[in-house]
Amino acid sequence: MERPTEHLMDDHQVAARGVSCLAAIADGVERGAAFPAADVAVALRFLREWVVAVHMRKEDDLVGPAVAMRGDERAAELVGELFRLREEIGELLHSLVLFWEPLGELTKEETVGFTSTVSALVQRLKRRQLLEERELFPACNRFVGADDQLQWLNEFRELENQRGPRGDWAGQIDALAQRWLTRG
Ligand SMILES: [Fe+2]
Repeated sequence: MERPTEHLMDDHQVAARGVSCLAAIADGVERGAAFPAADVAVALRFLREWVVAVHMRKEDDLVGPAVAMRGDERAAELVGELFRLREEIGELLHSLVLFWEPLGELTKEETVGFTSTVSALVQRLKRRQLLEERELFPACNRFVGADDQLQWLNEFRELENQRGPRGDWAGQIDALAQRWLTRG
């Protein structure tokens, strides 16, 4: 049977692709390309509605607390750091709301605001994912018994059913990646 950490690693593949798309979009905008409002809206909605509201909830509601409770001191510290990163990610996403439906071409100032906020956001998203893959998931497999994880996959599925399955987003992210990740 699939382990919960394997399921989360599969989530990470889709999440990382979406993050790379947003980073590529911001690079283009920084180099003077027209602001691709529709693609930005898809990337930001994906981050807010699936990465933060579904994927990170699987980690922060189930995996993190179990690891903090059963793991060593470093594990508890790590879980605290992951929570803080999610908060910062949420705040940065919130401050990008202005760019979901821009009224026209961005001013110079807005362009700088967009690219620097995206850069701060991407940096935190990447850091969180790296910490999870390097430390949280190994700690989960080491400290949390299989019995304690029995219900997790069901709960993961329930979250997806309530708030949006990975498969629905993967297609949209693939379409973005076709446009943004295949150049140069
Ligand atoms: Fe994650």
